[in-house]
Amino acid sequence: MASLGVNIDHIANVRQARQTVEPDPVTMCLLAELGGADGITVHLREDRRHIQDRDVELLRQTVRSRLNLEMAATGEMQTIALRIKPDMVTLVPERREEVTTEGGLDVAGQIPSLTSMVQTLQGSGIPVSLFVDPELGQLKACQATGARWVELHTGTYAEASWDEQPAELARLTEATAQARALGLRVNAGHGLTYQNVEPVAAIEGMEELNIGHTIVARALAVGLQAAVQEMRTLVQNPRRDPLFGRLN
Ligand code: PXP
Repeated sequence: MASLGVNIDHIANVRQARQTVEPDPVTMCLLAELGGADGITVHLREDRRHIQDRDVELLRQTVRSRLNLEMAATGEMQTIALRIKPDMVTLVPERREEVTTEGGLDVAGQIPSLTSMVQTLQGSGIPVSLFVDPELGQLKACQATGARWVELHTGTYAEASWDEQPAELARLTEATAQARALGLRVNAGHGLTYQNVEPVAAIEGMEELNIGHTIVARALAVGLQAAVQEMRTLVQNPRRDPLFGRLN
């Protein structure tokens, strides 16, 4: 049975839209864990557009499940990971202009530099996962770096038409088997939703799914009514002295 890693980047997106303190992704992680999250994932991007350094520091102290730090393979991020010591680092490609992670990491095209980073991180006790497209060539390259895990990119499956989806699912299924045959452990994620997650969760050998956007979207759907009710109560029945005497 696959476990669930909850990606909370989009909670930070809402906070950053106002440059304020709420919603606090650190506080929300407690709720995600109460809901059964087996792990928490954050992507500390080079441009700090959502998750901030402070979030990662606090999450390291408060996450009681497992903290997976997604990051680009840069020297700056390696230094942060070695200091924070997350339970896993997932290396992803990163381009400043992208809306979200687009495509998997080209591990085959940068084996020497990735091997060096994988060895440094794993040598300090942090397991490394490489986010790649479900292609045998990339999986072999992942094995060559010494990484223990891969995260298969499910974006193409998620975006496939009704007709194409079975073929994309077959690619993920085959890649999972190939990765395991190479001695790699397998996670997957990106673009998974309440509608398309089940076939991926059922793949033999799939260990963890990292899911973010759809869960945050669903949280709005199931939480908005109660939030409006609470505010309406305050607006319609304000306490007589809500500022506790500070008015005079
Ligand atoms: N896995 C990786 C490597 C990602 O970059 C992302 C998006 O940040 C996810 C999983 C989660 O994707 P989504 O938000 O579409 O569920």
